[in-house]
Amino acid sequence: MRHLIDTTDITVAEVDQIINTALDIIENRAKYSEACKGKKLATLFYEPSTRTRLSFTSAMMELGGNVLGFSDAASSSVSKGETVADTVRVLGCFADIIAMRHSKEGAPLVASHYSDVPIINAGDGSHAHPTQTLTDLLTIRREKGRLDNLTIGFCGDLKFGRTVHSLIKALSRYEGINVVLIAPEELRLPSYIRREVCDKNNIPTREVATMEEVMPELDILYMTRVQKERFLDEEEYEMLKDSFILNAERLKNAKKDMIVLHPLPRVNEITRDVDNDPRAAYFRQVENGKFVRMALIYNLLEWSKERPTEATPRLDKNQINENLRCSNRQCISNVEDVDKLFYQTDSGEHRCVYCEAKVK
Ligand code: NCD
Repeated sequence: MRHLIDTTDITVAEVDQIINTALDIIENRAKYSEACKGKKLATLFYEPSTRTRLSFTSAMMELGGNVLGFSDAASSSVSKGETVADTVRVLGCFADIIAMRHSKEGAPLVASHYSDVPIINAGDGSHAHPTQTLTDLLTIRREKGRLDNLTIGFCGDLKFGRTVHSLIKALSRYEGINVVLIAPEELRLPSYIRREVCDKNNIPTREVATMEEVMPELDILYMTRVQKERFLDEEEYEMLKDSFILNAERLKNAKKDMIVLHPLPRVNEITRDVDNDPRAAYFRQVENGKFVRMALIYNLLEWSKERPTEATPRLDKNQINENLRCSNRQCISNVEDVDKLFYQTDSGEHRCVYCEAKVK
């Protein structure tokens, strides 16, 4: 069974196939209007969402399929204490494919271990958001014509911003990528991504203190919202929320063909005077999200038909170690009774398979 839990669960060739399908959908909408006729998508959203859930819904509708699900965990059996594993076993009887968003990191991976239908991770805590990454990749392909040889600046909340984590992983598989990190000290990129993704793949990566000092070099500026809901301390959020604001003045030094991306929702990290600049690509990015999710649903269903017995991602029973505990309180392994799975990094330390945090 094929799932999309992490950006790297699909090969670069498969990413290409999804992007090419999306481009074909954009050109030939009518050809796909019955591509998923008779199929059902379940959207299990345990955490708030506007565009991701509606984008999945509209994607499945445009493929001629149907959609069921919930957008609020309080109205589902989760409020009665049902586990993720049981919920997906049940939902697999009703739906052909499932998109899941969850505040606990690794929850969609747990779901994939128990599901007979493809699971798509629609965002798990601060960890990953692979379908936003596919959206970003399609947008970059359409706007810049390539996915290699790009200097990309990531600005804002690089600690809790799951879209950044997934996009850096995805881009690390292309040639000539340069990464610039622009974040307050408290919201820096997690060190495991810096080490195990950037350094391991020889991606030149540097941190800078201001947007201004790198603006002229950037091909892409990826802005993010400070993730209020992930802070334990409201005061800390208030202190950090306006650390970096992009305005028309600051854009003056940027390349004429630079693009500004943002996964949205925006709070006030991009002022309204940027919206009419042709380089502001964030609303075009939203529409690309629908096309790429159509392409993803279509291809995942095809791949699962062709290769139904393909190995489930990261379910290696040899990695079970009941003596270790994940150190991340937001990890699903600390909330539900799941197999305690750990992998060893090149430097020999153990990390949790579900959320990639260190062990206690
Ligand atoms: C992002 C998310 O949910 O992580 N939004 C989205 O899916 N488009 C970014 C965010 O919430 O800031």
